[in-house]
Amino acid sequence: MSDTYVHGYQPRENERLQDQAGTLVDLLHSDTAYPRGSTVLEAGCGVGAQTLTLAQRSPEARFTSVDVSAESVAEAKRRGDTAGLTNVEFRQGDIFDLPFDAESFDHVFVCFVLEHLPRPVEALTILKRLLRPGGTITVIEGDHGSAYFYPDSAAAHAAIECQVTLQREAGGNSLIGRQIYPLMAEAGLDALRVSPRMVYVDSSRPDLVDGFTKEDVHRDDRGDSRVRARGGSDRAAEVRCRCPRPHRTTEADGVFCYTFFKGVGVKRRRA
Ligand SMILES: C[S@@+](CC[C@H](N)C(=O)[O-])C[C@H]1O[C@@H](n2cnc3c(N)ncnc32)[C@H](O)[C@@H]1O
Repeated sequence: MSDTYVHGYQPRENERLQDQAGTLVDLLHSDTAYPRGSTVLEAGCGVGAQTLTLAQRSPEARFTSVDVSAESVAEAKRRGDTAGLTNVEFRQGDIFDLPFDAESFDHVFVCFVLEHLPRPVEALTILKRLLRPGGTITVIEGDHGSAYFYPDSAAAHAAIECQVTLQREAGGNSLIGRQIYPLMAEAGLDALRVSPRMVYVDSSRPDLVDGFTKEDVHRDDRGDSRVRARGGSDRAAEVRCRCPRPHRTTEADGVFCYTFFKGVGVKRRRA
């Protein structure tokens, strides 16, 4: 997985995830809190961008945060230590091969991970098996089809289309946000609730211009290293190289909108 991860594992990508997490904290996490003593598995924690928020907001829950990338886990640990987290254990592990017994967690949290997986329903089914009956799975994903902006431009659409193509070629799906409900339903989760979370950015919100549009959308490293590695023959790489990013949307009259989708489902209790 680690060699095909479309965003890459460079320090700049780590900063992007951290900035993204900082800007989106309330939008994505305001309704997530885990009770005292509960155990939470965070699957695909990356460099810990969401972990810090989760663990700080639920200081009496105990988190196990795993990622397939040992490098990311090491960085997440470093950030957790710096933040003084005492309720998180970071471990390297692949969602498809986790060393945990069935029904060992009260809750599962997955953010910006399913978009990278060729078999997202299988991943959810595996994670559901690790949940105790009555426990929840929370999934957060974006959807590149939800991006719209002013001024509109063919170049900006081409840049987004390019990202969608690259992610599809890597086995993922950057349009997955709209599928959260059917994917979670197919995995057999109950009491499903999916809510769209729209980020709206104009120049009256300089924190979002800096923290989301510039830092997240435009500085997104997705695919750059893979594109370079595959050389100029790859069609997506060629498109990528030709695509200017939609910087214009960060200027005084620019507007950028993007929608994330958050789903929460419950593992049915035994009758
Ligand atoms: C976009 S990052 C999101 C990281 C973190 N959840 C966040 O929101 O900042 C996706 C992460 O999923 C991890 N990942 C991809 N496939 C995985 C797998 N099969 N098992 C565990 N982690 C995986 C990647 O290594 C990467 O760190």
